[in-house]
Amino acid sequence: MRVLLVGSGGREHALAWAISRSPQLDELIAAPGNPGIGRVARLAPVGAEDVGGLADLASGESVDLVVAGPEAPLAAGLADRLAERDIPCFGPRQDAALLEASKEFAKDFMGRHGIPTARHTVVRDAESAQRALRSGEYGEAPVIKASGLAAGKGVFLPGDLDAAARDAARLLEGGLGEAGKAVVIEERLTGPELSVFAISDGTRAIACGTAQDYKRRFEDDEGPNTGGMGSLSPGLGDNEATMERVRREIVEPTVAGLHAEGREYRGVLYAGLMLTADGPKVLEFNVRFGDPEAQTLMPRLDCDLLPLFFGAATGRLPDQAVRFRSDRAVTVILASDGYPGSYRKGVPIEGLPETVEIGETCVFHAGTRAGADGIETAGGRVIAVTGLGADWGSARDAAYRTADSITWEKKAFRRDIAAGAV
Ligand code: AMP
Ligand code: GLY
Repeated sequence: MRVLLVGSGGREHALAWAISRSPQLDELIAAPGNPGIGRVARLAPVGAEDVGGLADLASGESVDLVVAGPEAPLAAGLADRLAERDIPCFGPRQDAALLEASKEFAKDFMGRHGIPTARHTVVRDAESAQRALRSGEYGEAPVIKASGLAAGKGVFLPGDLDAAARDAARLLEGGLGEAGKAVVIEERLTGPELSVFAISDGTRAIACGTAQDYKRRFEDDEGPNTGGMGSLSPGLGDNEATMERVRREIVEPTVAGLHAEGREYRGVLYAGLMLTADGPKVLEFNVRFGDPEAQTLMPRLDCDLLPLFFGAATGRLPDQAVRFRSDRAVTVILASDGYPGSYRKGVPIEGLPETVEIGETCVFHAGTRAGADGIETAGGRVIAVTGLGADWGSARDAAYRTADSITWEKKAFRRDIAAGAV
């Protein structure tokens, strides 16, 4: 099989590495990729958001399957463009990618199909925001969310109603551009979080693992939100009873609801859940794997990913479960000091292994590039290190041992990933 993988981050390196191990693979092409991905794929210089260029590349290379790493090309209609050329895409069409691209759509969709989520309202001006906040319906400290895509920066957890009104006003005044023109105000839920992944072919869905991510930049969950500073898998709330409820109350009604609306969902559905006293509730949907959750999940994978991706993309999921090793996995993100704000690029990296696997760890490139003297930093999140172990302690030890051995000036990371799990 000839496969085109779209994207250039740590998630895509983990996917490329997993796909490259498939006996069914003939050639893997990645656009645009990164130096790590370049070791297992041929890189093509087409940007991940250039959907026209990607469709041309897919036709020109006669690929059998396109795998979308990030959400942006899906929200921009990549799967639709590929469908016009009869090229299967692992990743939903634009009308289903709205689940992530529009929180307003996602909330309305969940309302239509009885999928449990926080009570909410959508506002488009400061006056309506004030009215909704003062109504008391969303509690004393509601959550404020930009409806559109905001790269993890669109959710605010203000301490009181005045702060909530300020957050809403800032978004409505254009603080996050178009993404904040509609604002979701919702009640604050409490409970442990769990990220659940399922692969769907449009009519059926199979479970594809669980994880938990660490979104805040600093230890003890302080500081600004980031794309994710680390993660662990399986998620701590993952047990048979909970997963059965998640399947029955969330995953299956979501896939069935999309199907009933003619929005066929072929790809991975990522449900960010809160396990509340009233049962699991959806905080958000994403239409792709998480980053860094994919770097945590892929090393635990114990089956061939390619037939699953191809089956989902062609509407015929194979009748098999996605198998994972029982090991615990812990991923630590090595970032550039300053991230998620501004940071320096082009800093040479020392101690980077040539291969993904070293001992009980996997090393994935996120924001790297080839410099004059070897690999150097090129992004906020630079490297993801995943440790595996029979228990959380050994998985953490493995991850941090390797994390310590990779160095550059102004490397920054959290020391407490999965510390609470041990
Ligand atoms: P989201 O991008 O919607 O998943 O939100 C980012 C983070 O904000 C989540 O991982 C939660 O920690 C938090 N969050 C979002 N919505 C809520 C909510 N309704 N109640 C409490 N926390 C929330
Ligand atoms: N790590 C969170 C995400 O990928 O959305």
